[in-house]
Parts: sequence; structure tokens; C-alpha cells
Amino acid sequence: GAPVLVDTFGRTATDLRVSLTDRCNLRCSYCMPPEGLDWLPKPELLTDDEVVRLVGLGVRELGITEVRYTGGEPLLRRGLAGIVRSTAELAPRPQISLTTNGIGLARTAAPLADAGLDRVNVSLDTLDPATFRRLANRDRLPDVLSGLAAAREAGLEPVKINAVLMRGINDHEAVPLLRFCLEHGYRLRFIEQMPLDAQHGWTRENMIGADEILDRLSAGFDLAPDEAHARGSAPAETFLVDGGPETVGVIGSVTRPFCGACDRVRLTADGQIRNCLFATEESNLRDALRGGATDPEIADRWRKSVWAKRAGHGIDDPSFLQPARPMSAIGG
Ligand code: GTP
Ligand code: 5AD
Ligand code: SF4
Repeated sequence: GAPVLVDTFGRTATDLRVSLTDRCNLRCSYCMPPEGLDWLPKPELLTDDEVVRLVGLGVRELGITEVRYTGGEPLLRRGLAGIVRSTAELAPRPQISLTTNGIGLARTAAPLADAGLDRVNVSLDTLDPATFRRLANRDRLPDVLSGLAAAREAGLEPVKINAVLMRGINDHEAVPLLRFCLEHGYRLRFIEQMPLDAQHGWTRENMIGADEILDRLSAGFDLAPDEAHARGSAPAETFLVDGGPETVGVIGSVTRPFCGACDRVRLTADGQIRNCLFATEESNLRDALRGGATDPEIADRWRKSVWAKRAGHGIDDPSFLQPARPMSAIGG
């Protein structure tokens, strides 16, 4: 078979996460400051054709079977539907998903489904408009809610919801968020906040960890480990809610790391391969591509980058350093 993307710990990367822009129309405080960031200059971004060429290479030559488009906010990328359509034409056809804040989905869910998008994950941290404004610095909760409904109607299922709980802001909303998701048929996952914010404001004390999340949920629900869905390489541990079949997930990146089973590799909007969310080094495929490199040469670079992947994120190491690139420019 084709040489795949393996590392020295025996892991194989089959899940490609592609950031299509570092821009966003929200300012979630766990991600970026209210004034935004210095966005990547347009000429540095991969063009739609360049994205499709690299994704195609990953799928045809390097064993990528799942492609997730992320941001910043990927719905801000004009060419998104075309990129999805081209991705869906690849053989073997990969699974195609999108991680979005939901703003704009009301309008785009159906056309994206038509282009070949399989499913979406949407961030929703609160059901209260005032808290949303405080947390995301924009007054857009209704847009997110209508986007979610549109995604479900367009068949982009399962619609998964990502929620980050922040101490003193929305940490009282675990139970109401789950109630809302059960009512509407969305699959909720709570995410531990990771040290990836541009402001470097993360502290372990303020992070709501997996244990605390489960504790808060137990005030409203009876949770049991979902034996049928072992975690595998999925970041989320799933729990049956009140006997099931509905589930809730907890993504405990910090306190329950899943690095040992990681099957991911990332491509940034400016064409850099990152072998880990927390990588400190990147491999520049964009310049290789623009310098006239052949597919085998690019594939070789890509393989070398994954080979150098470290065992884990190292957040617990005393020498841990947050990567220079913030979450919004990595793509979650
Ligand atoms: P599916 O479960 O396949 O739907 O996707 P996902 O949960 O991997 O994707 P999503 O983009 O919704 O990410 C959810 C959370 O998991 C985000 O906070 C991501 O940053 C986090 N996450 C995704 N991949 C990794 C990873 O490789 N390492 C760590 N530590 N966290 C990750
Ligand atoms: N820690 C954990 N999750 C984060 N996200 C953004 N920043 C962070 C962070 N610092 C989440 C978003 C989105 C997903 C891609 O990552 O809420 O759902
Ligand atoms: Fe935007 Fe996502 Fe960052 Fe929030 S977490 S500011 S929605 S990129």
C-alpha cells in the first residue's frame, strides 16, 4: 500500500485538519483578545487550488481518510464550498467535516451539504445572550442557534456541539447546555480549556477539568461510561445520559490526554504542516509548492514532519511553552 504518515511512536496520521483562515467574527476570550490579532497577509495564505492540491496529495498518497476544515472561522473563507466540492471528488473519497462557530451556517448549511460536506461541529458555550456577548465579545447567539438548526435540517449529522466552560462565566451552564442539546438532537462535548489563547491567559486553576465537568453534570443527569464507544483515537470520552441512547462527551485534553492514540496532522492556512496542536516546529509546504516542488517531494517533506512528532503535548512539563501560533491560526 501507499506509504503512510507514521511517527516514531508507531502512530499513523489519517485525520487531516486544515485551517482555511485565521480570521474570525467572534472574539471568544479563551482564543483571542477583543481587538483581534494581526491576521495573516493574503499572499501568504494558500489559494483554493493550493489547498486542494495538498489535501489531494494527502488523500491519494499519504493515507488521509478524514479531512476537517477549520479556522479561525472557516465560513469566512469565500471558496469554502468549492474546496469542499473538490475534496469530495477525491478518490478514495475522504470523510469531510467542518468545525465552525455557526455564524453563517443558516445560509450555507444546505449548499455545503450539497457540495459534499458530511457533518459539522459547532461551538456553543452558553445559551444566555448576555453571557454570549461577554464571552465572545459579539452579540451573535441567535445566528449560532439558527445555524445549528439549519445544519440539522441539511442532514449534516451528527451535529456535534463543543462547549468550553470558563470559571465564573459560564460554568453554571453545564446542565442547561446538555438539556438543550438533548432536546434538539445535538451531540454535546465539553472541552477542557487548553493553553492556546493568544493572550496567554490560561491558568490551571481557572480551567474546568474533566472531573469538575462530570461533577457538575451529575447534578442533573445520571452518567455512565459508554462502553460501546471506546475512546480510541477520538478526543472525547463519551458517557450515556440517563441510561442512553443519548450521550455527552468530555474532551479532557489536559487532564486526560489522548496523545498516545493521536491520529491527527494539521495544515495551517499559510501552508505549514504541524504534527501536533502544540508543535513548536512547522514544515513549510507552501514555499515548497510555490518553489516548484513535485508531489513526491512535498509528500516526503510531509512524511518527515509527521515522523518528528513528539510523544505528547507536554503541558505538565515544567519547561512547557505555549506554541507561538495561537489556536485561531492553528485550527483547533
Ligand atoms: P470529531 O470528534 O471527529 O467530530 O472531531 P474533533 O472533536 O476532533 O474536532 P473539533 O474540531 O470539534 O475539536 C474539538 C476539540 O478537540 C477542540 O478543542 C480541539 O482543539 C480539540 N482537539 C482536536 N484535535 C486535537 C488534538 O490533536 N489534540 C488535542 N489535545 N486536542 C484536540
Ligand atoms: N482550549 C480548548 N478549546 C478551545 N477552542 C478554542 N480555543 C480553545 C482553547 N484554548 C475550541 C473552540 C472550538 C474548537 C475548535 O476549539 O471552542 O469549538
Ligand atoms: Fe473564533 Fe473559534 Fe477562536 Fe472563538 S474559538 S474566537 S469562534 S476561532
